Amino acid sequence: MLGNGLGKNKQPSLMNEYASLLGDAVLRHRTRTAEHAARIEAELASRVKSEFIANMSHELRTPLNTVMGFSKLLTEHEKRKLPDAEVVEYARLIHDAARHLLSVRDDILDISKIQSGKFTLDAREIVLDEILSACVSGLKLMAQEAQVELRFVAPYDLPHITGDAVKLRQVFTNLISNAIKFTPGGGSVTVECLRRSDNGTTVRVRDTGIGMTPEELAVAITPFGQVDGGKNRWREGTGLGLPIAKALVELHGGALTITSMKGKGTDVSVDLPPATASGQDADADHTDQRAFAQ
Ligand SMILES: Nc1ncnc2c1ncn2[C@@H]1O[C@H](COP(=O)(O)OP(=O)(O)OP(=O)(O)O)[C@@H](O)[C@H]1O
Ligand SMILES: [Mg+2]
Repeated sequence: MLGNGLGKNKQPSLMNEYASLLGDAVLRHRTRTAEHAARIEAELASRVKSEFIANMSHELRTPLNTVMGFSKLLTEHEKRKLPDAEVVEYARLIHDAARHLLSVRDDILDISKIQSGKFTLDAREIVLDEILSACVSGLKLMAQEAQVELRFVAPYDLPHITGDAVKLRQVFTNLISNAIKFTPGGGSVTVECLRRSDNGTTVRVRDTGIGMTPEELAVAITPFGQVDGGKNRWREGTGLGLPIAKALVELHGGALTITSMKGKGTDVSVDLPPATASGQDADADHTDQRAFAQ
């Protein structure tokens, strides 16, 4: 049929028909795939939302109980004749609990500002290894208590970067505390700082901990998402740290990538661009290494 003259004349319309059928099929397939993705996303969002409400009330209840309980004891000071040391200890516990509540509130404000595109950075020229060594020192005790070895390796000649010191400290504190929190005793966490050939800086936080499957990783990076976020969860947190860290790194023009293997460990890599000002440290030697282990 297609071989005769009539067929030739009809060929374009037949081709059009095939094309439109094929187009419809592709469209149907795309719609189905999009619907499937939207359904999975909605299910994930709904699971994350209910786990968030449960976790959040735990995150708020625990410190609020501390504030209520110990402040009540202090109001009974006259009657109980508490020793000075005990009064000081109760005040410290109340202070720590209030600080924790403040940090939960700050995280919620951060994520909502990030999501509405209203977050701004106070960017200056900074040295990243000072920030990192402050984070590592601040988490030494946590690592000791968890019996996790904490190592810090950085070259002496790290280039400067342009960034918000307070926010980058928040990023690395969360990444390193996650690594410690999700590494069983006897394991190790390594924080390594590398100078890239483009004069940017890469920070890697590697642990030998419980790791995540690709599905768990997708949950971890979702705001409020926590792997094993149910009632039996034994680790504290709101599930905001990672999405905030990722968004803050991206606001710096950088990238945060996570690779993880269930049962083997997690490797979080943060790439930050070089300082916007030119000519720093460009010719320095890259070989010197400074190491710190707790
Ligand atoms: N290094 C890691 N190893 C294994 N699981 C991790 C690691 N880092 C994060 N996760 C998983 O990702 C989840 C989300 O991490 P994220 O930092 O956002 O929240 P969080 O630590 O639970 O709470 P927050 O940081 O808000 O106090 C964690 O609850 C955990 O399940
Ligand atoms: Mg965290």
